[in-house]
Amino acid sequence: MKIAVIGTGYVGLVTGTCFAETGNDVICVDINTTIVEKLNAGQITIYEPGLEKLFLRNQKEGRLHFTTSLKAGIEGAQIIFLALPTPPGEDGSADLKYILGVAHDLGGMIDPKGYVVIVDKSTVPVGTADKVKAAILKTDANLSEAFDVVSNPEFLREGVAVDDFMKPDRVVIGTGSEKAKKMMNELFIPFVRQGNPIIFMDEKSAELTKYAANAFLATKISFMNEIAQLCERLGADVDMVRKGMGSDERIGRRFLFPGIGYGGSCFPKDVQALAKSAGEAGYDFKLLEAVMLVNKKQKQHLLPKIKNWFQSDLKGKKIALWGLAYKPNTDDIREAPALDIIEALLEAGAQITAYDPEAMKNVKQLLGDRIQFSDRQYDALIDADALVIATEWSEFRTPDFSKISSLLKNKVIFDGRNLFDLHKMEELGFHYESVGRKTVNP
Ligand SMILES: NC(=O)c1ccc[n+]([C@@H]2O[C@H](COP(=O)([O-])OP(=O)(O)OC[C@H]3O[C@@H](n4cnc5c(N)ncnc54)[C@H](O)[C@@H]3O)[C@@H](O)[C@H]2O)c1
Repeated sequence: MKIAVIGTGYVGLVTGTCFAETGNDVICVDINTTIVEKLNAGQITIYEPGLEKLFLRNQKEGRLHFTTSLKAGIEGAQIIFLALPTPPGEDGSADLKYILGVAHDLGGMIDPKGYVVIVDKSTVPVGTADKVKAAILKTDANLSEAFDVVSNPEFLREGVAVDDFMKPDRVVIGTGSEKAKKMMNELFIPFVRQGNPIIFMDEKSAELTKYAANAFLATKISFMNEIAQLCERLGADVDMVRKGMGSDERIGRRFLFPGIGYGGSCFPKDVQALAKSAGEAGYDFKLLEAVMLVNKKQKQHLLPKIKNWFQSDLKGKKIALWGLAYKPNTDDIREAPALDIIEALLEAGAQITAYDPEAMKNVKQLLGDRIQFSDRQYDALIDADALVIATEWSEFRTPDFSKISSLLKNKVIFDGRNLFDLHKMEELGFHYESVGRKTVNP
């Protein structure tokens, strides 16, 4: 099939590449000329494990192209995917200006004698498919038979996006059009060969499914973070509680890890947007308000512990920070808890040297020389007064503790991701504070 993907960020580039991988002819469109130039030159623009190999192979095979021209991009396309940003607007609702702007432009470009399926892959509030349709028809009322708008929310996780896209747990497709349904089914069949379902539904239910899924996962995280808070106060160990809870099939083991709050480009904005949508629909979704509040507080969780250790005097103290990305295996720093920690520590007068395997470039762009960066994991520790861990990259899980001991001024670790065993830290003589577990204090 001939596919156009509008927006070539995390979702668009993965979507376009994976459709090319199953033999489709794909053109990705982006307004950012730097992105398009780099991609056309064979340089990948985001870090996503496994993506580069597929990207280069399909580009070489001539199945994957990039352009800044919407008109050229959609020429002859049978299906057009919108993988555009839906950032929070000032009031917290999803800002649809990118989606509706492109919809408006498409109105002037769609062939009135042809037929094309336009797919919302972005995370959008209920009713957006109708708005996209209306925006196109407003431009040209004669197009009513020439297109259908389908909702196909994306559930990929950054860090494992290629695997998630190639073998999705499910594909959700919202449409009332039999013609569009048939084409979408044909396109997605290669991705569900193991029998995972393609679930067809109406557009509104599909739009809400995505928000419901993300809000539920965020709720699970905030719930566990509150249990962790209780554990600290009552002397229980959240790791044990988590294992005990997670073995119950009705609860499940995943997403029960406490930490320093969720971040990223999806959970924060999606929970906020769903709460806003609920309000607009006349429903006060109390649970979501609590989820957001708990998360905001949790991002600060390590700070009182750090301040307490330094007896509230962080002026001139050197803090080593491992982990900047909002989660491992990505260079994405949007809403990353590490950024909150950095701001609070800088405000308290500390100096920070950070290391992250992939996200340093993005943080440099954001913070410039307000903090130092270290190209090597252990160099960040030289003469530091303490180590703070903000992201659970695999390479932080079994570090060389003797190296850490010799490089740090004090054997002190604040771990926002519960990476280390408490007994081991006790044996090694570290002062070690984590989340929802007792403080190890030799
Ligand atoms: N990142 C994720 O993990 C993830 C997962 C599932 C769903 N989503 C949703 O998918 C959507 C896209 O997210 P993303 O993370 O890929 O965003 P992104 O910011 O990484 O990428 C968006 C891209 O769209 C481009 N763009 C903006 N306006 C454009 C226009 N008029 N024409 C062409 N290109 C334009 C930008 O230059 C950018 O490259 C959002 O709604 C998001 O909520 C994201």
